[in-house]
Amino acid sequence: MDNRPIGIFDSGLGGLTVVKEVMKQLTNESIVYFGDTARVPYGNKSKSTVTKFSAQIIRFLLSKDVKAIIIACNTVNSNCAIELRELFPELMIEGVVGPGVIMASRATKNGRIGVIGTEGTVKSGRYAERLREIHPEYQIFSKACPLFVPLVEDGWTNTEVAKMVIATYLNELLEEDIDTLILGCTHYPILSEDIQAVVGKHIKLINPANETAYQMGLHLLQENIQAVAIPSYHFYVSDHKEQMQDMAKMFLGCKTPDVIEVDIEKY
Ligand code: DGL
Repeated sequence: MDNRPIGIFDSGLGGLTVVKEVMKQLTNESIVYFGDTARVPYGNKSKSTVTKFSAQIIRFLLSKDVKAIIIACNTVNSNCAIELRELFPELMIEGVVGPGVIMASRATKNGRIGVIGTEGTVKSGRYAERLREIHPEYQIFSKACPLFVPLVEDGWTNTEVAKMVIATYLNELLEEDIDTLILGCTHYPILSEDIQAVVGKHIKLINPANETAYQMGLHLLQENIQAVAIPSYHFYVSDHKEQMQDMAKMFLGCKTPDVIEVDIEKY
Protein backbone atom coordinates (compact mmCIF):
# COMPACT_ATOMS: atom_id res chain seq x y z
CA MET A 1 0.00 0.00 0.00
CA ASP A 2 1.29 3.47 -0.89
CA ASN A 3 -0.94 6.55 -0.80
CA ARG A 4 1.56 8.84 -2.47
CA PRO A 5 0.27 10.40 -5.73
CA ILE A 6 0.99 9.47 -9.33
CA GLY A 7 2.66 12.29 -11.28
CA ILE A 8 1.30 12.92 -14.77
CA PHE A 9 2.72 15.51 -17.14
CA ASP A 10 2.20 16.96 -20.58
CA SER A 11 3.37 19.95 -22.59
CA GLY A 12 0.02 21.61 -21.80
CA LEU A 13 -3.61 20.90 -21.10
CA GLY A 14 -4.01 17.94 -23.49
CA GLY A 15 -2.68 15.49 -20.92
CA LEU A 16 -5.99 15.79 -19.09
CA THR A 17 -7.21 13.11 -21.54
CA VAL A 18 -4.86 10.75 -19.65
CA VAL A 19 -5.80 12.16 -16.23
CA LYS A 20 -9.45 11.44 -17.05
CA GLU A 21 -8.74 7.75 -17.69
CA VAL A 22 -6.58 7.40 -14.56
CA MET A 23 -9.36 8.99 -12.47
CA LYS A 24 -11.87 6.59 -14.02
CA GLN A 25 -9.86 3.37 -13.70
CA LEU A 26 -7.63 3.92 -10.64
CA THR A 27 -10.23 5.37 -8.32
CA ASN A 28 -8.11 5.42 -5.15
CA GLU A 29 -5.05 7.02 -6.71
CA SER A 30 -4.19 10.66 -6.07
CA ILE A 31 -2.75 12.64 -8.96
CA VAL A 32 -0.34 15.53 -9.30
CA TYR A 33 -0.57 16.92 -12.83
CA PHE A 34 1.86 19.33 -14.46
CA GLY A 35 1.07 21.06 -17.78
CA ASP A 36 3.90 23.10 -19.28
CA THR A 37 1.56 25.80 -20.57
CA ALA A 38 4.33 28.41 -20.76
CA ARG A 39 6.44 26.35 -23.18
CA VAL A 40 3.81 24.43 -25.19
CA PRO A 41 4.00 23.24 -27.97
CA TYR A 42 6.70 20.57 -27.70
CA GLY A 43 5.78 19.03 -31.06
CA ASN A 44 8.07 21.33 -33.07
CA LYS A 45 10.99 21.48 -30.60
CA SER A 46 14.28 19.57 -30.72
CA LYS A 47 14.82 16.34 -28.84
CA SER A 48 17.42 17.93 -26.52
CA THR A 49 15.08 20.77 -25.58
CA VAL A 50 12.15 18.44 -24.94
CA THR A 51 14.40 16.15 -22.84
CA LYS A 52 15.62 19.12 -20.78
CA PHE A 53 12.06 20.41 -20.19
CA SER A 54 10.81 16.92 -19.26
CA ALA A 55 13.65 16.33 -16.78
CA GLN A 56 12.79 19.63 -15.06
CA ILE A 57 9.16 18.54 -14.81
CA ILE A 58 10.06 15.13 -13.39
CA ARG A 59 12.29 16.79 -10.77
CA PHE A 60 9.37 19.06 -9.88
CA LEU A 61 6.98 16.10 -9.60
CA LEU A 62 9.48 14.24 -7.42
CA SER A 63 9.51 17.27 -5.11
CA LYS A 64 5.76 16.54 -4.70
CA ASP A 65 6.65 13.01 -3.55
CA VAL A 66 5.11 11.08 -6.45
CA LYS A 67 5.53 7.30 -6.44
CA ALA A 68 5.36 6.89 -10.23
CA ILE A 69 5.17 8.99 -13.38
CA ILE A 70 2.99 8.88 -16.48
CA ILE A 71 4.37 10.73 -19.49
CA ALA A 72 1.09 11.79 -21.09
CA CYS A 73 2.81 13.69 -23.90
CA ASN A 74 3.37 11.59 -27.04
CA THR A 75 6.13 13.90 -28.25
CA VAL A 76 8.10 13.42 -25.02
CA ASN A 77 7.37 9.73 -24.97
CA SER A 78 8.42 9.13 -28.59
CA ASN A 79 11.61 11.16 -28.42
CA CYS A 80 13.02 11.03 -24.89
CA ALA A 81 11.56 8.13 -22.88
CA ILE A 82 14.86 6.20 -23.05
CA GLU A 83 16.90 9.23 -21.89
CA LEU A 84 14.44 9.99 -19.08
CA ARG A 85 14.53 6.40 -17.84
CA GLU A 86 18.34 6.64 -17.80
CA LEU A 87 18.20 9.93 -15.89
CA PHE A 88 15.74 8.54 -13.32
CA PRO A 89 16.57 4.84 -13.14
CA GLU A 90 14.77 4.18 -9.84
CA LEU A 91 11.52 5.77 -10.93
CA MET A 92 8.51 3.85 -12.28
CA ILE A 93 7.74 5.60 -15.60
CA GLU A 94 4.83 4.65 -17.86
CA GLY A 95 4.26 6.26 -21.24
CA VAL A 96 1.52 6.35 -23.86
CA VAL A 97 3.32 4.85 -26.86
CA GLY A 98 3.63 1.26 -25.57
CA PRO A 99 -0.03 1.13 -24.49
CA GLY A 100 -1.15 2.68 -27.81
CA VAL A 101 0.79 0.02 -29.69
CA ILE A 102 -0.81 -2.78 -27.64
CA MET A 103 -4.30 -1.42 -28.37
CA ALA A 104 -3.62 -1.00 -32.09
CA SER A 105 -2.22 -4.51 -32.45
CA ARG A 106 -5.34 -5.90 -30.76
CA ALA A 107 -7.62 -3.86 -33.00
CA THR A 108 -6.14 -4.31 -36.47
CA LYS A 109 -7.37 -7.10 -38.73
CA ASN A 110 -5.49 -6.25 -41.91
CA GLY A 111 -2.22 -5.03 -40.31
CA ARG A 112 -2.46 -1.61 -41.98
CA ILE A 113 -2.21 1.00 -39.24
CA GLY A 114 -2.24 4.80 -39.39
CA VAL A 115 -0.43 6.95 -36.82
CA ILE A 116 -1.10 10.67 -36.43
CA GLY A 117 0.73 13.03 -34.09
CA THR A 118 2.95 16.09 -33.90
CA GLU A 119 5.95 16.62 -36.20
CA GLY A 120 8.20 15.46 -33.36
CA THR A 121 6.28 12.25 -32.76
CA VAL A 122 6.02 11.32 -36.43
CA LYS A 123 9.67 12.18 -37.18
CA SER A 124 10.85 10.00 -34.26
CA GLY A 125 9.32 6.93 -35.94
CA ARG A 126 8.80 5.48 -32.46
CA TYR A 127 5.23 4.20 -32.95
CA ALA A 128 6.22 2.45 -36.18
CA GLU A 129 9.29 0.93 -34.52
CA ARG A 130 7.29 -0.42 -31.56
CA LEU A 131 4.50 -1.74 -33.82
CA ARG A 132 7.03 -3.61 -35.97
CA GLU A 133 8.54 -5.15 -32.85
CA ILE A 134 5.16 -6.85 -32.37
CA HIS A 135 4.62 -7.74 -36.04
CA PRO A 136 7.40 -6.97 -38.53
CA GLU A 137 4.90 -7.27 -41.39
CA TYR A 138 2.65 -4.43 -40.17
CA GLN A 139 2.28 -1.62 -42.70
CA ILE A 140 2.43 1.76 -40.92
CA PHE A 141 1.32 5.05 -42.45
CA SER A 142 2.17 8.16 -40.42
CA LYS A 143 1.12 11.76 -40.77
CA ALA A 144 1.91 14.86 -38.72
CA CYS A 145 -1.17 17.02 -38.19
CA PRO A 146 0.16 20.22 -36.57
CA LEU A 147 -3.09 22.19 -36.89
CA PHE A 148 -5.06 19.73 -34.74
CA VAL A 149 -3.58 21.04 -31.48
CA PRO A 150 -4.61 24.69 -32.00
CA LEU A 151 -8.05 23.49 -33.17
CA VAL A 152 -8.53 21.84 -29.77
CA GLU A 153 -6.90 24.60 -27.73
CA ASP A 154 -9.13 27.21 -29.40
CA GLY A 155 -12.31 25.16 -28.98
CA TRP A 156 -12.98 24.27 -32.64
CA THR A 157 -14.19 20.74 -31.90
CA ASN A 158 -17.42 19.53 -33.54
CA THR A 159 -17.29 22.15 -36.30
CA GLU A 160 -17.16 22.07 -40.09
CA VAL A 161 -13.78 23.83 -39.95
CA ALA A 162 -12.36 21.00 -37.85
CA LYS A 163 -13.71 18.39 -40.28
CA MET A 164 -12.24 20.25 -43.26
CA VAL A 165 -8.80 20.46 -41.66
CA ILE A 166 -8.94 16.78 -40.63
CA ALA A 167 -10.00 15.68 -44.12
CA THR A 168 -7.18 17.67 -45.70
CA TYR A 169 -4.54 16.09 -43.45
CA LEU A 170 -5.90 12.56 -43.64
CA ASN A 171 -6.72 12.32 -47.37
CA GLU A 172 -3.58 10.38 -48.27
CA LEU A 173 -3.76 8.06 -45.24
CA LEU A 174 -7.29 7.11 -46.16
CA GLU A 175 -6.12 5.87 -49.58
CA GLU A 176 -3.95 3.26 -47.81
CA ASP A 177 -6.80 0.99 -46.67
CA ILE A 178 -5.91 1.34 -42.96
CA ASP A 179 -8.35 -0.24 -40.49
CA THR A 180 -6.85 1.29 -37.32
CA LEU A 181 -5.73 4.84 -36.56
CA ILE A 182 -3.62 5.70 -33.50
CA LEU A 183 -4.40 9.13 -32.05
CA GLY A 184 -0.75 9.71 -31.14
CA CYS A 185 -1.17 13.08 -29.48
CA THR A 186 -2.77 14.04 -26.18
CA HIS A 187 -5.16 16.49 -27.84
CA TYR A 188 -6.55 14.27 -30.58
CA PRO A 189 -9.00 12.22 -28.47
CA ILE A 190 -10.84 15.51 -27.87
CA LEU A 191 -11.32 15.67 -31.67
CA SER A 192 -12.27 12.02 -31.97
CA GLU A 193 -15.91 12.63 -32.98
CA ASP A 194 -14.78 14.86 -35.83
CA ILE A 195 -12.02 12.44 -36.84
CA GLN A 196 -14.39 9.46 -36.78
CA ALA A 197 -16.91 11.40 -38.91
CA VAL A 198 -14.21 12.04 -41.52
CA VAL A 199 -12.54 8.61 -41.60
CA GLY A 200 -15.71 6.54 -41.32
CA LYS A 201 -16.86 3.93 -38.81
CA HIS A 202 -14.84 1.12 -40.40
CA ILE A 203 -11.61 2.62 -39.02
CA LYS A 204 -10.98 1.98 -35.32
CA LEU A 205 -9.61 5.00 -33.47
CA ILE A 206 -7.07 4.24 -30.75
CA ASN A 207 -6.84 6.53 -27.71
CA PRO A 208 -3.71 5.29 -25.85
CA ALA A 209 -4.91 6.91 -22.60
CA ASN A 210 -7.21 3.99 -21.87
CA GLU A 211 -4.54 1.28 -21.88
CA THR A 212 -2.00 3.65 -20.26
CA ALA A 213 -4.13 3.90 -17.13
CA TYR A 214 -4.64 0.13 -17.19
CA GLN A 215 -0.89 -0.54 -17.49
CA MET A 216 -0.12 1.85 -14.64
CA GLY A 217 -2.67 -0.01 -12.51
CA LEU A 218 -0.91 -3.29 -13.32
CA HIS A 219 2.53 -1.91 -12.36
CA LEU A 220 1.18 -0.59 -9.06
CA LEU A 221 -0.37 -3.99 -8.36
CA GLN A 222 2.84 -5.87 -9.25
CA GLU A 223 4.89 -3.62 -6.95
CA ASN A 224 2.17 -3.71 -4.29
CA ILE A 225 2.05 0.10 -4.09
CA GLN A 226 -1.62 0.81 -4.80
CA ALA A 227 -3.34 3.53 -2.80
CA VAL A 228 -6.20 2.80 -0.41
CA ALA A 229 -7.41 6.32 0.25
CA ILE A 230 -9.85 8.95 -0.90
CA PRO A 231 -7.90 10.47 -3.78
CA SER A 232 -6.88 14.11 -4.15
CA TYR A 233 -6.10 15.90 -7.40
CA HIS A 234 -3.62 18.77 -7.70
CA PHE A 235 -2.86 20.65 -10.88
CA TYR A 236 0.24 22.70 -11.64
CA VAL A 237 1.04 24.75 -14.73
CA SER A 238 3.85 27.03 -15.85
CA ASP A 239 1.40 29.72 -17.10
CA HIS A 240 -2.32 30.54 -17.58
CA LYS A 241 -3.69 28.87 -14.48
CA GLU A 242 -7.25 30.03 -15.24
CA GLN A 243 -7.28 28.04 -18.49
CA MET A 244 -6.32 24.88 -16.59
CA GLN A 245 -8.98 25.62 -13.96
CA ASP A 246 -11.64 25.89 -16.69
CA MET A 247 -10.46 22.73 -18.45
CA ALA A 248 -10.31 20.71 -15.22
CA LYS A 249 -13.84 21.83 -14.36
CA MET A 250 -15.28 21.22 -17.80
CA PHE A 251 -13.37 18.14 -18.92
CA LEU A 252 -12.83 16.33 -15.60
CA GLY A 253 -15.79 17.61 -13.62
CA CYS A 254 -13.56 18.79 -10.73
CA LYS A 255 -15.66 21.24 -8.67
CA THR A 256 -12.98 23.61 -7.41
CA PRO A 257 -9.76 22.56 -9.07
CA ASP A 258 -6.68 23.52 -7.13
CA VAL A 259 -4.29 24.97 -9.77
CA ILE A 260 -0.93 26.51 -8.90
CA GLU A 261 1.58 28.26 -11.19
CA VAL A 262 5.17 27.05 -10.90
CA ASP A 263 8.48 28.50 -12.10
CA ILE A 264 9.57 25.24 -13.75
CA GLU A 265 12.94 26.61 -14.89
CA LYS A 266 14.09 26.40 -11.26
CA TYR A 267 14.00 22.59 -11.29
N1 DGL B 1 1.21 17.04 -25.88
C1 DGL B 1 1.71 16.97 -27.23
C2 DGL B 1 1.72 15.50 -27.69
O1 DGL B 1 0.99 14.67 -27.18
C3 DGL B 1 0.90 17.83 -28.18
C4 DGL B 1 1.09 19.29 -27.99
C5 DGL B 1 2.49 19.78 -28.24
O2 DGL B 1 2.94 19.88 -29.39
O3 DGL B 1 3.15 20.07 -27.26
O4 DGL B 1 2.48 15.18 -28.57
